[in-house]
Amino acid sequence: MTLPTGVERHEFGGETSIATQGEPVYGERTDGDWRRWDPHRSKLGAMLEQGMETGLEGDETVLYLGAAAGTTVSHVADFGGPTYAVEFAPRPVRELLDAAESRRNLFPLLKDARKPESYAHVVEPVDVVVQDVATRGQARVATLNKQFLTDDGRLLAAIKARSEDVTADPADVFDSVRAELGSEYELLETARLDPYHEDHLGVVARPRED
Ligand SMILES: C[S@@+](CC[C@H](N)C(=O)[O-])C[C@H]1O[C@@H](n2cnc3c(N)ncnc32)[C@H](O)[C@@H]1O
Repeated sequence: MTLPTGVERHEFGGETSIATQGEPVYGERTDGDWRRWDPHRSKLGAMLEQGMETGLEGDETVLYLGAAAGTTVSHVADFGGPTYAVEFAPRPVRELLDAAESRRNLFPLLKDARKPESYAHVVEPVDVVVQDVATRGQARVATLNKQFLTDDGRLLAAIKARSEDVTADPADVFDSVRAELGSEYELLETARLDPYHEDHLGVVARPRED
């Protein structure tokens, strides 16, 4: 697996981990220059650590859905190009704004990812949609936001089984999410993110032509 330019393996306290360069955001270890990208705190970090072929090369334009306080999206902005960070809960957005202060390419948007029309006037076509919304209807959120992806763009999604159905077997939930996503996206790789994130499915997909 190739890491994107701007993501490297570094040693932190005797442990080797992926890392990016930027201001610390969530109390992660740093060596003064590089900051640890903790795969236990980040599903995209776990996808990279597990060797999924994300297709990320660095410098991509990114739409990030479910940015929360900026843990993962801050790493993305460290190696990416313009990074639009959508989050609908006002409280974490305050911290997201702090993370954006030192990152001129990170643009927080207090918006609902189920209403892409509310940010379509701001977001340009993007190379990558990263999605980690942990809400019911995750496949639908991905479908609604496909409009922003360039033809050869990528969807990198983390699907949380319990957000769809707390009682169902996660394997069944993932099957139905894969089936729903499959009508709009070609699934290139899917893998469970255990042990970093229990009952989560990592998805790499590209948009099907309309
Ligand atoms: C698991 S957390 C995201 C963690 C974050 N991606 C990270 O790694 O730093 C899921 C986030 O998605 C947000 N969210 C859920 N539904 C959303 C929606 N429809 N639009 C925007 N954000 C949403 C939640 O408020 C929450 O902050």
